[in-house]
Amino acid sequence: MRQRSAWKPVWRFQQRLIQATLATSLIAALTPALAQKPQTESAPWWRHAVFYEIYPRSFADSNNDGLGDLKGITSKLDYLHQLGVDAIWISPCYPSPQFDFGYDVADYENIDPMYGTLADFDELTREAHRRGIRVIMDFVLNHSSSQHPWFLESKSSRTSAKRDWYIWRDGKSAGQPPNNWQSDFGGSAWTRDATTGQYYYHYFEAEQPDLNWRNPAVERAMFDVTRFWHRHGVDGFRLDAVDTLFEDPELKDNPTLAGKNEFGDPQMKNVNNDKLPEVHEELRRLRQVTDENGQVLIGETWTESIDELKAYYGAHNDEIQLPMDFMFATVNKLSAPEFRRQIGLAESAGWPVFVLSNHDMPRAYTRYGDGMHNEQIAKLMAGMMLTLRGTPILYYGEELGMATHPPERKEDVKDPLGISGWPQQKGRDGDRRPMQWSAETNAGFTHVQPWLPVDADFKQHNVAIEKDNPQSLLNFYRALLALRHTNPALLDGEYVPLAGNDANVLAYLRRTKAETIAVVLNFSVESQELEPNWKALGIDSATLKVLLTTSEERAAKQPGIVQLTPYSLVILRAETKGKKAKQE
Ligand code: GLC
Repeated sequence: MRQRSAWKPVWRFQQRLIQATLATSLIAALTPALAQKPQTESAPWWRHAVFYEIYPRSFADSNNDGLGDLKGITSKLDYLHQLGVDAIWISPCYPSPQFDFGYDVADYENIDPMYGTLADFDELTREAHRRGIRVIMDFVLNHSSSQHPWFLESKSSRTSAKRDWYIWRDGKSAGQPPNNWQSDFGGSAWTRDATTGQYYYHYFEAEQPDLNWRNPAVERAMFDVTRFWHRHGVDGFRLDAVDTLFEDPELKDNPTLAGKNEFGDPQMKNVNNDKLPEVHEELRRLRQVTDENGQVLIGETWTESIDELKAYYGAHNDEIQLPMDFMFATVNKLSAPEFRRQIGLAESAGWPVFVLSNHDMPRAYTRYGDGMHNEQIAKLMAGMMLTLRGTPILYYGEELGMATHPPERKEDVKDPLGISGWPQQKGRDGDRRPMQWSAETNAGFTHVQPWLPVDADFKQHNVAIEKDNPQSLLNFYRALLALRHTNPALLDGEYVPLAGNDANVLAYLRRTKAETIAVVLNFSVESQELEPNWKALGIDSATLKVLLTTSEERAAKQPGIVQLTPYSLVILRAETKGKKAKQE
């Protein structure tokens, strides 16, 4: 091995504003291969899968009432299949007063009529499975709706059989809640109910009372919910708000910190009602039940340290298989070093789960776009997400370049978070606008007024336009997904970071014994030219082949030199020296 650094920048060009281009012939070459996704060796299906989150209100409206529905989703399964996703996670579609748009469940074992019927759901899973797409339900297990019959019974009297299904306490003194805990949506986490004069606890809004997971009857009922959905073909669950399942039994006050939050409440450290150790014990018990039915668990795990994230996998990999890495998701800078660091940490925790957008956060297109290179940057981020080792979770419309534009006037806000937090917190409506199917009225989502207005950008970013444009973001996602599904190194290969300290370039290998894929991503507005020391990496540069690139500088001056225009990427494939030698 040579001592020279494995990664050596050669020189840099001055900034040049050039449109990045896609190696177009590749899309055509790869798309048919989607039909034969390799589900190889002993890896469980979810390790090779790309998940796609659907916010059902906003995806496809089959009956023209302005709201998306299950039949709408079913009608778009071919689109999802052609895109190349392997599983859909459907945000809550259970009966609900829709106070928090379904994250307030009034019946865990049915479908809200606004979305259709259980029969529609069965048809959806059947049709999805027929196309090799698995179905994940959103399991809102921390709290129910205040309209759930369990809560109505619970609040009816202090001696109700379901009193202990929720968390009821006397106030500290007249007009004073039991402690200082705050709701995630602003104000106290306690609401006094006049029927019994006691307070009930809600980590979120008052319409979302927390279930008491210390009560075995609650556990039993919720475990049965997973069995119910197993009978309806559900392949797994995304565990909503799993961090906050348990509370300190003594209800000790949380320490307050300096300053105010976006709701004007004192800053607080939620040490007594967030990530209590009991959560892990409960997850192990839940995992036993879902394992019996072959269902996978995905976690909404808002961790602040890699140790916290690691803990969610379970000491014996016996908790959540796919805890989402929100530390990666909230690297809110287009920074190669920041992403390199976070990816390295995720690698050390377990099988990584990468997310860049969802229904609770501004879309990546808007967060990372600089207004001038948005398309190139969106391709850059997709190139990273879909070539890393781990399971990626996409958000509907991410593949089109859907943007986030929050409402401009308070009276237009629908999200309870935006209503209580305005104007500092404008809520999540901007992240949840209707899917952009075409340039027709309402983006082809519905023929009537949609529940949220379509985004102003829909004429440029929609399926109809992008599907026929070989250089579109949509076709770039398709090409990436096809690559991922057909290259074992991208599925199972180890992750080897390169370009250790480079401020502008994020680069890594994905490597199996037989093949190496090199991914080089230019996170800067300047062109980059680099000459990795391929030999030191065990790669014969003569075997390097470009699989996919958005860089205009396609013809390298010498084999092995990587030229990247602003915000572009290149994915290369090489045979390892060992393999080549054997073949010769
Ligand atoms: C989760 C959901 C979010 C919801 C909250 C309360 O964080 O992702 O949308 O508002 O839980 O259920």
